[in-house]
Amino acid sequence: MAQLWGGRFTGSINELAWNFNASITFDKRFLEVDVKGSKAHAKMLAKQGIINDEEMTSIVEGLDSILEDVKIGKLEITTKYEDIHSFLEANLIERIGDAGKKVHTGRSRNDQVALDMRLYARDEVEHVTGLLTDILKVLNGIMGENLETYMPGFTHLQKAQPVTLAHHLGAYFEMFKRDLLRMKDIYKRMNYCPLGAGALAGTTYPLDREYTAMLLGFEGPTLNSMDSVADRDYLIEFMSALSTVMMHLSRFSEEIIIWNSNEYRFVTIDDAYSTGSSIMPQKKNPDIAELVRGKTGRVYGDLMTLLTTMKGIPLAYNKDMQEDKEAFFDAVDNTSNCLILFTQMLSTLQFNKENMKRSAMLGFTNATDAADYLVKKGMPFRDAHSVIGKLVLYCIDKNCAIDDLGIEELKSFSELFDNDIYEEISLETCVNKRLTIGAPSLKCMSEIVKLNYEFINSLV
Ligand code: ARG
Repeated sequence: MAQLWGGRFTGSINELAWNFNASITFDKRFLEVDVKGSKAHAKMLAKQGIINDEEMTSIVEGLDSILEDVKIGKLEITTKYEDIHSFLEANLIERIGDAGKKVHTGRSRNDQVALDMRLYARDEVEHVTGLLTDILKVLNGIMGENLETYMPGFTHLQKAQPVTLAHHLGAYFEMFKRDLLRMKDIYKRMNYCPLGAGALAGTTYPLDREYTAMLLGFEGPTLNSMDSVADRDYLIEFMSALSTVMMHLSRFSEEIIIWNSNEYRFVTIDDAYSTGSSIMPQKKNPDIAELVRGKTGRVYGDLMTLLTTMKGIPLAYNKDMQEDKEAFFDAVDNTSNCLILFTQMLSTLQFNKENMKRSAMLGFTNATDAADYLVKKGMPFRDAHSVIGKLVLYCIDKNCAIDDLGIEELKSFSELFDNDIYEEISLETCVNKRLTIGAPSLKCMSEIVKLNYEFINSLV
């Protein structure tokens, strides 16, 4: 056990308590950001004359060499140390001697860990933003190729009105676009530097917090030292946004699972993203989509963990906050993995266009348009609704579509039917006459695909 705080103690800590308290097994992820933060801190200390330039250079080089040695496997991060901060400081002192003992001047592990988490989370926000950009690109690509791929649109999982695949996927484009914009918004709010807050009340050393913030690419320093060490709002916001991403992925997964079922056969999942059954030779299961749906609950759970951890702790730092890490890492790892895999599965998904079209034709998805036809010929909408309702019942009985009926048969329901009805209720007409902004017509969706490209290009 190599702890930073031996002086005040006469006895040694219970082994179980040591392990219970330690965070090295999971905060070793902070190796790089902790080095980055300590280097910036040392540079600031030198600029302010708190340490000299030689000491600063020695600290910077010492930290770099430790980082390098861990990376090449020459130095191992072991549970001998309480946390990554102790590991680095102890190794630094071992390597450079007394200068290493000065790196923690004007700093506490409370502001140090607050900084590490900000730096780490900030990188992860950018990473997730990139993954969301990837899925938007794939989606818009598929949309551009399927502006005239007809399919039924559903409400209550019942066929409702015809749409196109471009339109259906366009809904997911909007969802992931909002997710991406949320990431950008969160980034701006979290981009302030807590280093220099000390344990909770700042420090008497003349630190230049603005300088450290600038060195680390932050917008500026945080403005209340107690809040700086006690704030985990930005993680809660981020995990909430991740939960929303997962919710979107989960809905999409659910649709792919339905579309992949024997009854629908709208899509074929590539062999690379499906698995078989150990007993039923005919099976090809949508496991990836199911697991994405399954992991959504877990990410929600991570968010709840942190919300609950934070709800009862007084200002400022309390050890409870160490619990933020595993929950956050789990949420961000799982969301990233799900985004990566889902995007790959989507980009290799085969759409069975004929099945989609047939399903739209056979589902009375043009019933609203048939009623609108009678309205245009002078019938009040409520009456038209009733006539078409009877007509649908008749077709169900005959197991055919409205379009399959002859004109005389149609006229027996209403004299207003004429030969132009067939053109008026074709899938093409039903879709392409829907010209309101956001509707599925070729005209509207071509515009949207163009706008989407512009949006994606504006991101780089
Ligand atoms: N491992 C701790 C955490 O994750 C680091 C901060 C420790 N600070 C303290 N006063 N014990 O929160």
